[in-house]
Amino acid sequence: ASRRFFVGGNWKMNGNKESLLEVMNTLNTASLHEDTEVVCAAPSIYLDFARSGLDPRFGVAAQNCYKVEKGAFTGEISPAMIKDCGADWVVLGHSERRHVFGESDELIGQKVSHALLSDVCVVACVGETLEQREDGSTEEVVYAQTQVIAENVSDWGKVVLAYEPVWAIGTGRTATPEQAQSVHEKLRAWLRAHVSDDAADSVRIIYGGSVTAANCRELASQSDVDGFLVGGASLKPEFIDIINARA
Ligand code: G3H
Repeated sequence: ASRRFFVGGNWKMNGNKESLLEVMNTLNTASLHEDTEVVCAAPSIYLDFARSGLDPRFGVAAQNCYKVEKGAFTGEISPAMIKDCGADWVVLGHSERRHVFGESDELIGQKVSHALLSDVCVVACVGETLEQREDGSTEEVVYAQTQVIAENVSDWGKVVLAYEPVWAIGTGRTATPEQAQSVHEKLRAWLRAHVSDDAADSVRIIYGGSVTAANCRELASQSDVDGFLVGGASLKPEFIDIINARA
């Protein structure tokens, strides 16, 4: 595919300055496939630290943000602040935001809209729970989540769609390459039917959920898998192998 491979490292709420500096030094000195876009999602308090510690060839993302520019929203950060820290991306709709913090599709949609209007690129996440997969509603769930995201996208050139089955996140139970490919292919068809051919052909659809150095190559070889969103392994040296999965 002509789509540029995209690998996001989601540090989640892990690390400290000392350990993250080590992660960043490993990345800065690694030899990486040039055609891969790499973005690290840092805890918001470390956005500045990540931007100054990472080589400019790496992008930096926030892991969440609020839906307005400023105001009395104690504890929140805005896309304007993300940009002010030199970061260009935000992860929105991550399953932990949806399921641990109870974020609704509606709120996620509003956040997507505001981030894009603020010129911050978005990694928008969708994915079904184990219960939903087992009762056969995977497609219905990811289409509904994608629909609300799509209603709020002003520029698909600034969006990466992440498919992260909840049952695969942090569990060591990775989706098989066939399972990932099947959902990615359906999401691309959904984009073709409901957005445009251009969006369907150009939007990167990345997979997340227990991606490791051991399983990344086979996943990366699937025609609709355009990269990864990596949690645990993004803090380990094997993240380099994952970045180079398609090399
Ligand atoms: O954002 C990343 C995903 O939640 C995957 O996390 O690689 O630790 O399973 P994981």
